[in-house]
Amino acid sequence: MQSGSSASRKFIPKAVTVLTLSSASSAWGVGLPSSLGGPILVFGKIGQVGSALVRLLGSRAIPPSVEEVDFEKPRAVSSWLERYPARPVAVINAAAYTQVDQAEKEESRAFSINAESPALIASYCAKRDIPFVHYSTDYVYPGDGVEPWTEQSKTGPLSAYGRSKLAGDEAIAAAHGKFLNFRTSWVYDSMGQNFVNTMLKLGAERENLRVVSDQIGAPTYALHLAHATLRTLEAALLQARFPSGVYHACNSGETSWHGFAEEIFAQARKLGFPLKVKEVKSIPSSEYPTPARRPENSRLNCAEMRKVFGIELPNWKIGLKECLEAKGHSSQ
Ligand SMILES: NC(=O)c1ccc[n+]([C@@H]2O[C@H](COP(=O)([O-])OP(=O)(O)OC[C@H]3O[C@@H](n4cnc5c(N)ncnc54)[C@H](OP(=O)(O)O)[C@@H]3O)[C@@H](O)[C@H]2O)c1
Repeated sequence: MQSGSSASRKFIPKAVTVLTLSSASSAWGVGLPSSLGGPILVFGKIGQVGSALVRLLGSRAIPPSVEEVDFEKPRAVSSWLERYPARPVAVINAAAYTQVDQAEKEESRAFSINAESPALIASYCAKRDIPFVHYSTDYVYPGDGVEPWTEQSKTGPLSAYGRSKLAGDEAIAAAHGKFLNFRTSWVYDSMGQNFVNTMLKLGAERENLRVVSDQIGAPTYALHLAHATLRTLEAALLQARFPSGVYHACNSGETSWHGFAEEIFAQARKLGFPLKVKEVKSIPSSEYPTPARRPENSRLNCAEMRKVFGIELPNWKIGLKECLEAKGHSSQ
């Protein structure tokens, strides 16, 4: 899987912008730049990234529900799009089958949702010259070694979920339209089922926890990713030639799930979250068997995003802080 040719890229970013929540609110909360001044179709509006996109886009977002557009029925997705009356400025797909373990038992369902439907949307967009934005995952890589993966690294998914996402990536590139496909990692948000919320729940109930420490990656705050998505899309639309391709996009820095858990508890304690937890024991993945195999090395090199668009996501600890603060405020 290769990203688009960097030789054709004309846009030279003047400086790298490290995104923060405050820049997110000022840049996107009030109004969008004119290049994005039109309706944007957003699939996956209830999900972590999709709901953040809808929040940032406000009335510009057109977010169909799962009931209206069910990705499990690719032909129905196609006919819904064919009947769609307006021409969107862009289509963003944040819908996905993300139950990594369950996918081992439901591989064909995962393929319909993660590969077949996105392929049809990509082809709809390509025919109409509409930019298509999609998300992929660190789980497309084989997970060996310690070097961060680049967009040119050889893929080799270890799980059904990873295979379904990779099939989606390949189909989107093969549609030969304008596309941005952001490969991200370890996504969480203040709401919903994710590692942060699971840790906060378990940490409030138990004194001792065991968390794996041999998988390394970058936890990514959904709101940061959504913000980076829109900034990148805007930058791409301003380029003489749309820089289609796969781009790694995650919060910077790296940690293990164990390191992430320790940081969640350290920050949550400072913010006054109720916690019983005293010890977080570090364990190898072999002591926490799961139906799907996860990569040990989930490090993603995000240099391409920085080089082409001048955009870098903040350190993962900043993302966590902003997420916990948002969570604290919403529970008051
Ligand atoms: N979560 C992670 O750790 C992670 C890591 C790397 C990459 N990614 C990628 O990042 C993207 C966003 O992930 P996320 O964490 O925001 O996912 P998420 O919270 O699980 O949300 C996925 C969305 O897809 C929708 N969806 C599921 N099945 C559908 C169907 N049959 N038809 C239409 N919509 C359907 C869900 O709707 P319902 O809620 O109504 O089912 C939900 O709105 C995905 O492409 C994912 O593969 C995620």
